[in-house]
Amino acid sequence: MPAAATLRAFFSLASPAARPSVARGVQAFFVCGSACPFHPPDMSTVFNFTFVPWFRSVAPYIHKFRHQTFVVGLTGEAIAAGKLQSIVQDLAMIQAMGVKIVLVHGFRPQVNEQLAAKGHAAKYSHGMRITDPVALDSAQEAAGQLRYEIEAAFSQGLPNTPMAGARVRVISGNFLTARPVGIVDGVNFQHTGLVRKVDVEGIRRTLESQALVLISPFGFSPTGEAFNLSMEDVATRVASELRADKLLFLTEVPGVRTQPFEPPGEDNPVDTELPLAAARRLLAQLPAPQVPTDVGFYLQHCVRACEHGVERSHILPFAVDGALLLEIYVHDGIGTMVIDEKLEELREATIDDVGGIIQLIEPFERDGTLVKRDRTEIERDIASYTVIEHDGVIFGCAALHPYPEARTAEMAAVTVSAQSQGTGDGEKLLKRIEQRARLLGLDSIFVLTTRTMHWFLKRGFAPVDPNWLPEARKRKYNWDRKSQVLVKKLTP
Ligand SMILES: CC(C)(COP(=O)(O)OP(=O)(O)OC[C@H]1O[C@@H](n2cnc3c(N)ncnc32)[C@H](O)[C@@H]1OP(=O)(O)O)[C@@H](O)C(=O)NCCC(=O)NCCS
Repeated sequence: MPAAATLRAFFSLASPAARPSVARGVQAFFVCGSACPFHPPDMSTVFNFTFVPWFRSVAPYIHKFRHQTFVVGLTGEAIAAGKLQSIVQDLAMIQAMGVKIVLVHGFRPQVNEQLAAKGHAAKYSHGMRITDPVALDSAQEAAGQLRYEIEAAFSQGLPNTPMAGARVRVISGNFLTARPVGIVDGVNFQHTGLVRKVDVEGIRRTLESQALVLISPFGFSPTGEAFNLSMEDVATRVASELRADKLLFLTEVPGVRTQPFEPPGEDNPVDTELPLAAARRLLAQLPAPQVPTDVGFYLQHCVRACEHGVERSHILPFAVDGALLLEIYVHDGIGTMVIDEKLEELREATIDDVGGIIQLIEPFERDGTLVKRDRTEIERDIASYTVIEHDGVIFGCAALHPYPEARTAEMAAVTVSAQSQGTGDGEKLLKRIEQRARLLGLDSIFVLTTRTMHWFLKRGFAPVDPNWLPEARKRKYNWDRKSQVLVKKLTP
């Protein structure tokens, strides 16, 4: 399996500092002093216990994103900071896992460098470069150089590197038609342009041929005139026109803080999920962004993309190694994701959720925390289940089995996946189950538990004798399992 092989190469060879937190399980792999690219640790002692469960936990994301289209906006700053090789390695791996990738590179610092070499100052206005003829020359030189570097990076395939066996065909082309920005508030932007049209068909066909599409922020007018575009505008337009599944900016900022007007700090972390409405409200409060480090700079493009059909737009820090992998394949991600709706959904289950529920509860059945339920039983009772779904993956479930004759109901199969326990999902499920029981006019709910008694006690349940159970449930009670019966009285 190419994806597995690539991942294996990746994890066996990445340097200790390079991949410290892809998943907690993998961390153990790197703690020993001998963990280095040239002296891998003894796989037999740690590999199975860490890698296999971790890889399985990533599997739902791999399945979900296969065949999806991601547009990645790579700032010139990331390349200037020496991040190109590791980002290219990650992109090659993501592509190997079936994602179609359009990579749009920026070149702000590289153009400035060329300008400085020519003794020319960079000029900006309204947050955009003013491209005079010297700046246009510099932009063309910088774009040519960067394209060459990016293509070279994707062409690597040395053994004992994460690129071993990677076959990434990179295709660039005249996919963009541009128009001039023109004169704004008396400022003539000269050769600075905006995207006028995207050759969607051309890009789609190229992606279908398994190639990675590389786009430089340049466009041509129908008269053949070249225009310098901004990477952010290009990436946003391309993502919108393609109806891409994700737009990801790799930037010099870590994301948007939960309190965007306060200084960063431990008590002001990055907001990992920003609903579109909240992002719009925030943008309205912020001054017009001028430089990339302004809070609204990337946010404005994420909002625009979301408004034009890209469900998720992300602002990620290129300073964090493996930022793309962490954002795409780990539950909470690391940057800010702007979404056009709340992705985590608490809802009643449908027959399509049976597979997800089985996958969720199976480890707890195996260790004896939950009693075994077979697929037919879950299929039969599917209407009794409430689930928490995030991004197409089931992270929590609980079932409600009513005994109307005793004015009570059993809350069964309460489960939250190991990776999202402790974040309040269990509490949410309990509240929804209580709500459903109330709607049925019941007075109480009860649970049978062998190991989770304290969780329920803390939430208002009280122990009772198993003889308290409704007759129909008592007949099924397994006296050998010695489950505790706990009841919670429902307030109307
Ligand atoms: C029990 C369970 C559903 C709770 O889900 P959750 O999303 O982690 O719960 P919440 O985030 O709402 O609550 C977390 C709190 O519960 C505590 N907790 C988790 N499991 C517990 C347990 N077995 N016993 C006592 N407390 C527990 C956590 O320590 C945390 O405490 P804190 O708030 O003081 O830090 C989840 O741990 C689970 O799926 N466990 C395995 C399956 C199971 O035991 N199901 C119950 C079968 S009857």
